[in-house]
Amino acid sequence: MPIPPPAQQNFNIFPILTREQIDAARTSEWIDTFEDISFESTIIDLAALGEEEAFLQWLEEDSIFLPEGSEGRHASASVTITEEQSVPSTRRRTRSSPSSRNGSHTSDDVDTESEAPVYNLPKLNEAIRSALDKYGGAVFPKLNWTSPKDAAFILPQTAAGPLHCTSPADVYLLLKSSDFIHHDLDPARAYAGIGSDHDRRHRVEIVLKRFEDLIPSREVRCFVRNNLLIGVSQRDTVFYDHLQNEDTRIQICDTVRSFWEDEIRENFAGGEDYIFDLYLSPNLSSARIIDFNPYRDSTDPLTFTYEDLRNIVQEAFEPLSTTVPQTSSKAHTESADESTAKRTRLPVFRYIDSKAHPDVNRNAPAYQSNMMPLEMLEMSQGLNMAEFKEAWDEALAAGMTD
Ligand SMILES: Nc1ncnc2c1ncn2[C@@H]1O[C@H](COP(=O)(O)OP(=O)(O)OP(=O)(O)O)[C@@H](O)[C@H]1O
Ligand SMILES: [Mg+2]
Repeated sequence: MPIPPPAQQNFNIFPILTREQIDAARTSEWIDTFEDISFESTIIDLAALGEEEAFLQWLEEDSIFLPEGSEGRHASASVTITEEQSVPSTRRRTRSSPSSRNGSHTSDDVDTESEAPVYNLPKLNEAIRSALDKYGGAVFPKLNWTSPKDAAFILPQTAAGPLHCTSPADVYLLLKSSDFIHHDLDPARAYAGIGSDHDRRHRVEIVLKRFEDLIPSREVRCFVRNNLLIGVSQRDTVFYDHLQNEDTRIQICDTVRSFWEDEIRENFAGGEDYIFDLYLSPNLSSARIIDFNPYRDSTDPLTFTYEDLRNIVQEAFEPLSTTVPQTSSKAHTESADESTAKRTRLPVFRYIDSKAHPDVNRNAPAYQSNMMPLEMLEMSQGLNMAEFKEAWDEALAAGMTD
């Protein structure tokens, strides 16, 4: 454990970050440095593919159509890329209104032939398929920093776990349905927390990781402030029996501390304040990196609060005589029992110590407020947003009068 310098400092809840620190947490920035101790990933630079504009246009348009030729793991043999399709484009094709498709024609339908947009992202389709081939058929998608985990419900749930994509269409569907990923597209949000210079446009990347069969109980989130490893939290906030054992908790802290000191501290380019996620080996003695995150409120502190974390770092830099444990009791604090210790041993490990704990993520699906009912999804097939809204409103009205 590094010995903090004695000089007294006052810490704010959040450090002031630089653009470089936020960039350092982009997968594309750290993946090469930590290639051997993280999970295989492919970075798709959309501008380099020549499809950034077309991708962003597709993503932002009020339409739920997927790019052409994106279905299936392999490109359909009958689809040959024509000269027109070889460049990203949006065109429109004629289609009929939802009510005429239902067969319920009314006199109002006469002029309701509408044009459906057609999106072409052939190089992106190809790049996604090539990652699928490389990774045995399944990938976990993200943008620069953020995964579409709020949209996991949109894909059929399989035993493989959420965000399991086996075709370009799966990747598109997740990205299109996610609110979270918009964080990465808006420079003001992506670079929130830096003093200035957050309006500069940044490269948009799609990250495809080999889909791994991860066991949530072995994931931990680790907090570094002022170049001190101050906290470790279980990643999935459920009650785990194995974490009730003190020896297990000590072993996890030892593994995380060694891993950070040996692998991360000198090599990560994100300065002195950052958060990283690890996946522990079955015997908890080694780890691999899942992700880096900026030290700011958009990163979930899980069983800590950022006030707790500030108090921990503050205490670490206090002269010994005034050291008082100041952390709140949001979850069990390993070091709170160590009343004899002069200074809290770092990192502080937080875990859910009771099934009745207020932080326990009960069996409710994550991000359920982002979900749509199944009927809504079924109804949306083949409709654009305006048509879908009209059809949905009609269905609701009919339901209310039934
Ligand atoms: N390669 C993978 N295969 C399968 N699941 C994965 C993979 N990588 C990550 N996950 C799962 O998805 C979760 C979120 O992954 P990740 O941290 O990369 O996304 P994120 O959007 O940055 O999340 P956060 O905002 O919480 O940092 C992880 O905790 C892990 O459970
Ligand atoms: Mg992350």
